[in-house]
Amino acid sequence: MCGIVGYIGEQNAYPILLEGLKKLEYRGYDSAGVALLCPDELKVIKTKGEISALERKIGEGFPEGTAGVGHIRWATHGAPSDINAHPHCGCSQEFAVVHNGIIENYLNLRRWLEEEGHCFVSETDSEVLAHLVEHFFDGDLLQAVIRAVKKVEGSFAMVAVSEKEKGKLVCARKDNPLIIGLGKGENYIASDVPAFLNHTRKIYILEDGEAAVVTANNVEIYSTQGEALQKEVSEVTWNAAEAEKGGYPHFMLKEIMEQPRALRETMRGRLLREGKEFSLPELNFTPEEINSFEQVYIVACGTAYHAGLVAKYAMEKILKLPVEVDLASEFCYRDPLLNKNTLFIVISQSGETADTLAALRLARKEGQRILAITNVVGSTVAREADKVLYTWAGPEIAVASTKAYLTQIFSLYLLTYYLAQEKGNLSRDTLEEAGEALFNLPDQVETILQRAEEIRELAAYLASWESCFYIGRNLDYAVAMEGALKLKETSYIHAEAYASGELKHGPLALIVEGIPVIALVTQRSVMEKSLSNIKEIKARCGHVICFAQEGTIEFQREVDRVFYLPATLDILMPVLTVVPLQLLAYYTAVARDCPVDKPRNLAKSVTVE
Ligand code: M6R
Repeated sequence: MCGIVGYIGEQNAYPILLEGLKKLEYRGYDSAGVALLCPDELKVIKTKGEISALERKIGEGFPEGTAGVGHIRWATHGAPSDINAHPHCGCSQEFAVVHNGIIENYLNLRRWLEEEGHCFVSETDSEVLAHLVEHFFDGDLLQAVIRAVKKVEGSFAMVAVSEKEKGKLVCARKDNPLIIGLGKGENYIASDVPAFLNHTRKIYILEDGEAAVVTANNVEIYSTQGEALQKEVSEVTWNAAEAEKGGYPHFMLKEIMEQPRALRETMRGRLLREGKEFSLPELNFTPEEINSFEQVYIVACGTAYHAGLVAKYAMEKILKLPVEVDLASEFCYRDPLLNKNTLFIVISQSGETADTLAALRLARKEGQRILAITNVVGSTVAREADKVLYTWAGPEIAVASTKAYLTQIFSLYLLTYYLAQEKGNLSRDTLEEAGEALFNLPDQVETILQRAEEIRELAAYLASWESCFYIGRNLDYAVAMEGALKLKETSYIHAEAYASGELKHGPLALIVEGIPVIALVTQRSVMEKSLSNIKEIKARCGHVICFAQEGTIEFQREVDRVFYLPATLDILMPVLTVVPLQLLAYYTAVARDCPVDKPRNLAKSVTVE
């Protein structure tokens, strides 16, 4: 996720672009840049670092120009650096492009453009767009953009400027947001409305497959087939704070709601032919390497550790390899048994967690080769690992991790099935069944999110208690741990997760009348046993809220409340089960008036051991 802004009018563009970029900082913050159409040239200034770094670089004497584009980057292809920052130019420096999205076929396009004589300077996928626009330009920027985006596979929101056609900005989108703000004698473009909300509330929302020519006094919208389109003007009713969060009251809710998109981004290019084939070229494993693994070792903290626990169940079942999952803070202070045939994985959303980094460095000292699963390109974990599998969740702002967890477990499933495919230890039919089920998960998550109101009602009960339990067996136990952590950190309710079978070994003593027990019962192989555990709680008058897979057991008679989840393969259920638990934590915290996005005593990235 990156942020794009554009301005064209009579005012000096630079301060307006800067103001817009600051409002979009939640979309990325590893580098920033602007391209300004100045009277004598197209001036591009960009730098690694936050917007303040750009401000320092430009200083007081900023260039005068009444049109321009700006970009705030969240690195995907190529680490954060001055060169990889946007805007990107073609060879002639007469064209500049800002881009948000992922161009899947960029290597092929880059090869082709190089054969055509274009010289590339960055490691980004986005730079191909600038060269494509330059390549196709024959006097009409709109046509050049349309021809360029037709060549591109993947997702994009992009704006192009050229000193050859100074009075316009040309933009286009597919699968990434782009909004045009309508002013008087001036117009705006942005990834999100907060960027220009101080200037206008009248907008056009560009849809997939649309392009626009934006001048100071006019906006023309076209399909990417070149036909002119008529569009309704919409009015933004959000206030500035709401707008920054996409209209949601908190980043946590926004990020929960973004999960279908985040999953689609994470599967892009990795689950081919609608799930029939798994592909992880970035890992570059040799067949010998894959076949040499005798065990898997996963190290992480907090929510990322819980993602590792899900992987343990899945990998042991599918890969038939022993999987050890360790808290990074424990791993460093004992004598872990590692051998050279270990697939060593560290998981970290931020890629900067001190405990995880210490574990990575210790493992490296012990001769391990490290595979990192992280959300932040260019983070320390990504830089120090040998191989990286990125989760394309986009920036996560709320302290409570939601979309990062979901994309972590999704990536771990992709990795598991990819290894199974390469090792040949699953039949083609089984692999295809899993691939198709994974492919459908984003839609299924969407249907759960549409039922958020049902969860809010459940939260109303939970909110008046100071203690509660989460129980489950097998994969449900791993998800129960994540559900309990979400509730603890956001609502300050003491929430404990137990393997259901363990209740009778102690925790059952804590069951008192009405105490909430969140029972996860999605795994068919242990369903009857889980039901017995629920009966043990009901016999002691606990209040059981059950999450089950539709089409399995009728739980209504057994529990106080039941929420049926869409059905998928049992092994993939964690991707669906955790979603209502995130919502439950969120709505409970809201009901208790807790500072949802910034819980007390916690930081987003824990950079001390
Ligand atoms: O950035 P990381 O994934 O390494 O962070 C690990 C934990 O600090 C993090 O998951 C933490 O537990 C979250 N607050 C959980 O919501």
